[in-house]
Amino acid sequence: MADSEGSFSTSPVLEKLDSNDYSSVGRGYGTYGIVGAAAAAILIPILLSTIFMGKKKVKQRGVPVEVGGEAGYAVHNARHAELVEVPWKGATTMAALFEQSCKKHLPERFLGTRRLISKEFVTASDGRKFEKLHLGDYEWQTYGQVFDRACNFASGLIMLGHKEGTRAGIFADTRAEWLIAFQGCFRQNITVVTIYASLGVDALVYSLNETQVSTLIYGETTNDLGVSGMSNWKVSSFSEVEKLGENSPLPPSLPTKNGIAFVMYTSGSTGQPKGVMITHGNIVATAAAVMTVIPKLGTNDVFLAYLPLAHVFELAAESVMLSVGCAIGYGSALTLTDTSNKIKKGTKGDASVLNPTLMTAVPAILDRVRDGVLKKVEEKGGLAKKLFNIGYKRRLAAIEGSWFGAWGLERMLWDVIAFKQIRALLGVRMRFVLCGGAPLSGDSQRFTNICMGAIIGQGYGLTETCAGAAFTEWDDPSVGRVGPPLPCSCIKLVSWEEGGYTVADKPMPRGEVVVGGVSVTAGYFNHQEKTKEVYKVDERGMRWFYTGDIGQFHPDGCLEIIDRKKDIVKLQHGEYISLGKVEAALTSSDYVDNIMVHADPLP
Ligand SMILES: *[C@@H]1O[C@H](CO)[C@@H](O)[C@H](O)[C@H]1NC(C)=O
Ligand SMILES: *[C@@H]1O[C@H](CO)[C@@H](O)[C@H](O)[C@H]1NC(C)=O
Repeated sequence: MADSEGSFSTSPVLEKLDSNDYSSVGRGYGTYGIVGAAAAAILIPILLSTIFMGKKKVKQRGVPVEVGGEAGYAVHNARHAELVEVPWKGATTMAALFEQSCKKHLPERFLGTRRLISKEFVTASDGRKFEKLHLGDYEWQTYGQVFDRACNFASGLIMLGHKEGTRAGIFADTRAEWLIAFQGCFRQNITVVTIYASLGVDALVYSLNETQVSTLIYGETTNDLGVSGMSNWKVSSFSEVEKLGENSPLPPSLPTKNGIAFVMYTSGSTGQPKGVMITHGNIVATAAAVMTVIPKLGTNDVFLAYLPLAHVFELAAESVMLSVGCAIGYGSALTLTDTSNKIKKGTKGDASVLNPTLMTAVPAILDRVRDGVLKKVEEKGGLAKKLFNIGYKRRLAAIEGSWFGAWGLERMLWDVIAFKQIRALLGVRMRFVLCGGAPLSGDSQRFTNICMGAIIGQGYGLTETCAGAAFTEWDDPSVGRVGPPLPCSCIKLVSWEEGGYTVADKPMPRGEVVVGGVSVTAGYFNHQEKTKEVYKVDERGMRWFYTGDIGQFHPDGCLEIIDRKKDIVKLQHGEYISLGKVEAALTSSDYVDNIMVHADPLP
């Protein structure tokens, strides 16, 4: 996903990455390789590969479509002639979707949280103190129980004095109560304001003030918010609010499809953050669309939730999971694997306890996993390294040659011989990783395919399009593309003559990516001018959002993001330079770890 102004910014996770060294994710990758099987493993694949090298057929994933509005080249999902609006009839709001799904899956496991066994501080050799957690098993609440808690919380908020027509803010780490809180708010038609911590205190104050938040729900880890100074605020614990509601249940006051569910703040490239108004209809449309692209999604799935819920990507993913009745186990980026920084030595990380089948990831996390494992392989050297390299090459050839060959006997062999221990990192059942937030490198995508044995679905979307714009299909082995438009949206390329991108370009049409459809949000809170600039409604009533990203459509209807409008600077002699391209070229150097390119138009 293009990381750009207003898009799924990777900043909340990236910031943590800098200070917390994710390389530990790949640490502890132990002995692998069953040496005896080596010879067979090398011979059998060579025999098999001739059988499996089938002819590659090009599958049409997106098809051109005629739309209204500004002229351009528009594509919609090939499998759905009509835009998908709801997961099922009647689920037109998040509140309805939640209630119906909870009733349908009443006794199933829904939200899981790990029990805290002990907490301690260890002092590193340089004197710095680190918190280490010993966490136990997941403790689960069923769909039925979570529904009751959300109802209680909803009544509790009103009993506490939350006024009709005012907003509630959520400022907390990803956890079960986050979901219960916003579902509770929706049952009383309360709009939820979200902001992520990494935007800083000024941004937090700005957003809460702008939206006139009258109730703030925050996690215990953010106690330093300065509650003591807020003398005119009443502070109650989460369980007190639930108890209040349980004792005095109130009838719900349910929202409508066009009601604003969230005002989600994202960073602006300059100045103050912008609050994107996401309607109930937007979220259920994205959930409905994403449900169609994850194969065999259902109650047997277990989702590992740990990215910030204040981020539309994680919010959309969890909405999908709750729609299909799957279990959501909460974790955190710092406790993800056995070797994660906050995990006490010798105890288990979230992934190995939960054994998830699905998770979300931002590219930075997958990159760190890859780097960590490769470093370990390099340290080991010898036969282990040779086996790993041969296995990796064979599997890579299989994936790139014929997708179906990639799932054959050879794959099983290599999984046992070379990749078994690596797979255990994220849990051996991991089958599908939803990736978003920034463009994922081909290397990391392949690495996850091969070593983790998981499919990566790469998404493209922005907060302004409620995530749901494009998503790769599970059987598409290519890298570097973001798939066809999701069934809830159309994607149109509009020529940008000044930047040298036009829909008449050969071999592929190119232009600014404009997203239209049901998931396109209602605009920026309190900023009509800015809204008018980038949101347009065409003569047929369809809403479009101008992303500022530059893309091209492949013949099979898949989108590739190739540039960014704001990324282009005009030099003194009138020459256009793409900062992204300069940056990408320099980053690939071994001597460059991180880079910022700055262009000064003046001498
Ligand atoms: C829900 O809130 C919206 C404003 O956000 C308001 O327009 C609508 O009438 C409310 N619906 C109900 C049922 O109170
Ligand atoms: C809150 O918003 C008002 C305008 O609505 C503004 O005058 C005031 O300075 C803001 N306060 C803070 C702390 O930002």
